[in-house]
Amino acid sequence: MAIVSSNKQPKEPQPPKKAKEKPASYSAEPSLLKPEPTGPDETNKQEEKLRPQTLDTYIGQKDLKQVLSIAIGAAKSRRESLDHLLLYGPPGLGKTTMALILATEMKVGCKITTAPALERPRDIAGLLVNLQPGDILFIDEIHRLSKMSEEILYPAMEDFRLDITTGKGQSARTRSIPLQRFTLVGATTRVGALTSPLRDRFGIIQRLQYYQPEELSQIIQRTADILKTPITPEGALEIARRSRGTPRIANRLLKRVRDYCEVKNSGTITHEIASEALQIYNVDPSGLDWTDRRILSAIIENFSGGPVGLETLAASTGEDTQTIEEVYEPYLLQIGYLNRTHRGRVATPAAWKHLGYDPPAHQLSFFR
Ligand SMILES: Nc1ncnc2c1ncn2[C@@H]1O[C@H](COP(=O)(O)OP(=O)(O)OP(=O)(O)O)[C@@H](O)[C@H]1O
Ligand SMILES: [Mg+2]
Repeated sequence: MAIVSSNKQPKEPQPPKKAKEKPASYSAEPSLLKPEPTGPDETNKQEEKLRPQTLDTYIGQKDLKQVLSIAIGAAKSRRESLDHLLLYGPPGLGKTTMALILATEMKVGCKITTAPALERPRDIAGLLVNLQPGDILFIDEIHRLSKMSEEILYPAMEDFRLDITTGKGQSARTRSIPLQRFTLVGATTRVGALTSPLRDRFGIIQRLQYYQPEELSQIIQRTADILKTPITPEGALEIARRSRGTPRIANRLLKRVRDYCEVKNSGTITHEIASEALQIYNVDPSGLDWTDRRILSAIIENFSGGPVGLETLAASTGEDTQTIEEVYEPYLLQIGYLNRTHRGRVATPAAWKHLGYDPPAHQLSFFR
């Protein structure tokens, strides 16, 4: 992160001064980071087509792949099911994709569900009794499981047993039904929100990391191949750099650039076409979209760079606290534009500079 060594700002600069003209203007267009409107089966089918099917074609996440290939090898040689696995990390990094790959590699079935769909105990009980030997049960957003569903999972994960209680008070009876051995793969964006009894029952807990531009560039070239879209390596790298380290965003941006390229009749996606198109779609050279920029500029313009509490920040940007925390902040923290302190969020000097402001002295000393 670049820290500016000198500036001529007055002691308490309010409001902050623009250092230079912004290189380009980014308006309030619909965010590319937000989930696409759900529903269209077409979109889902397309996304399925883009998912890699094997560990070898899964790009990046070297540590995770190493841990899992050892686990797969060991489980296969012992003819056992895989240990329960918890995957956590920001959205779009490949958790669902990895669960499907595990099922393919282990040659077992995979049932996919999400915690909010398992609100009643009978929902999860129904799923468990129908599992085949070795099956993978993938539960997305597992931190949102209800208490009762979670309690059903404990004996199921530990002893492959379903405990059903009937009646109440003194006449309550518990009956146990044996289950097939299965592997639970839990995915969450908020590992801290998991209860510790649930977390402790996972044999493998792995964090997914943001991808490097070179890895994203490979993903983009692979997707472009599938979509039969010609792209130069420089074009792919330009999209990769603006994809916030996230394959889902990389694929999404590629599709937008492909549209632009078609309209322009250019044939091949080059560096120039990619950067022109992404400027139109309001994705700036650091991969920030309009909401990221609004969050940072709210901290800088309304709170002199921070610290500012999450709730206050949410109120002043019109986003909810959870979206800021789970969708926007992780990347801003990762690229060093935002800091979390015990007193609140602070925009770093790099963020001031990125938005075209001179960081004031009090902010520079904050980071010294
Ligand atoms: N390692 C990878 N190599 C190639 N493509 C990938 C990789 N990881 C993810 N993708 C692509 O990114 C898209 C999103 O991945 P996926 O749905 O697995 O993310 P996720 O972590 O489950 O997201 P969410 O938290 O939102 O459920 C997939 O369609 C897939 O094509
Ligand atoms: Mg998913």
